Amino acid sequence: MFKQLLLWTLGTFIMLQAIQIKIPEPPKNINPAKEIQLPKEMMSTFKTSCYDCHSYQTKMPWYGHIFPMSLEVKSHIKEGRSAVNFQEWGNYDETKKQKIYKGIAKTINFQMPMPMYLSIHKEAKLTQKQRNKIKSWAKNHIKEEY
Ligand code: HEC
Repeated sequence: MFKQLLLWTLGTFIMLQAIQIKIPEPPKNINPAKEIQLPKEMMSTFKTSCYDCHSYQTKMPWYGHIFPMSLEVKSHIKEGRSAVNFQEWGNYDETKKQKIYKGIAKTINFQMPMPMYLSIHKEAKLTQKQRNKIKSWAKNHIKEEY
């Protein structure tokens, strides 16, 4: 009885793995010149804290492939990249860039990086000083006419 239940559970778990979200394939040729240009220190902060969801350089954790975590992880990457991909920066027009500067100034204190992500990725945590720096960088780029 117990063995049957175990097999059934295992079988279900394996079948559920078929439920997957597809992240669009990154382009074959990523143009490095299109990447956002930031002061060195801030660039490394972005790479540690934002690039998993906002670039093609995602470091996929092992559980990112396993249902049900995969749904959460992959949808964040998919939606994150479509909201802003810092490796596509040079392809954005000024309207889109302005939206992102405003978005950064607005989200950097609480929403970004996503709190759930931070609970697992301690290395991505930002100090208040780093948040302030990013916020004032973003604010400096905001143009009122947009
Ligand atoms: C775990 C994934 C993840 C990480 C890490 C992450 N983001 Fe996001 N980000 C998302 C998702 C998903 C969205 C789109 C949904 C939303 O707006 O909540 C988003 C949206 C945004 C937006 C648009 C928000 C708006 O309201 O206009 C900005 C700007 C942004 N992120 C900046 C950042 C910055 C800067 C970092 C690093 C300091 C960061 N994100 C780290 C997942 C992430």
